[in-house]
Amino acid sequence: MMIDTHCHLNDEKLLPETDRIVKEFEAEGIESAICVGYDAPSSERAFELAEKYDDLYAAIGIHPHDATTADYDKYERFATMSSSKKVVAIGEIGLDYHYDLSPRAIQKGAFVEQIELAYTLGLPIILHIRDAYEEARRVLYEQSRYLTNGVLLHCYSGSAEMVRDFDRIDAYYAFGGAITFNNAKRNLEALKAVPKDRLVLETDCPYMTPVPYRGKVNEPKHIKLVATKAAEVLGMAFDEIESLTSKNAKTLFTRMI
Ligand code: NI
Repeated sequence: MMIDTHCHLNDEKLLPETDRIVKEFEAEGIESAICVGYDAPSSERAFELAEKYDDLYAAIGIHPHDATTADYDKYERFATMSSSKKVVAIGEIGLDYHYDLSPRAIQKGAFVEQIELAYTLGLPIILHIRDAYEEARRVLYEQSRYLTNGVLLHCYSGSAEMVRDFDRIDAYYAFGGAITFNNAKRNLEALKAVPKDRLVLETDCPYMTPVPYRGKVNEPKHIKLVATKAAEVLGMAFDEIESLTSKNAKTLFTRMI
């Protein structure tokens, strides 16, 4: 059964419909999904949803866009929430030099602080990196002693060559709807370069809706379209991709059952 390692049912677009959305993904044979926070309020919502639905887990953290809102009070709250076994990771955290919504020095500060927080709490980290792979690599190499609980590069959009660099820190790589797009050549090269035991799938819903639903609101049930494309590109059977990526997700997110 498949696992969606990155969804935002805590997004205002999806929040009013979570009962239906969860029921539908369960009916489609999807085992579970990780609802990912991006600031303090959305992390609280992810936590509440994970406590409410058996098949939902939570990641909590402050996204680089909101890095200016990160402070030790929030980290303390995250530490408290993480005593629940439904909290499986710190994320999404990282660097976004595409939008630069927070100053870069502040993004980097919040990134490093949350890497250390995850280490202290014994949790893996989920990374959002956009147009900042060189700098992210530098930070991760510097912080490598704090990465022992695992690292997932969400929506991996780095090059195939860079996979070798992130393999040095044993990173996992998540691919989503972008691999179904027409202009996916670079993503598909990267997908092929990723070690098979480090590959997981995601929807990033409500964003990144796979073809043929592009332009509509995305949901975890559409992970099947991502899996179908990944199977085609890697020359594997759908069942093989399904069991491989679920096994990898559970190896990384050790609190998932
Ligand atoms: Ni996200």
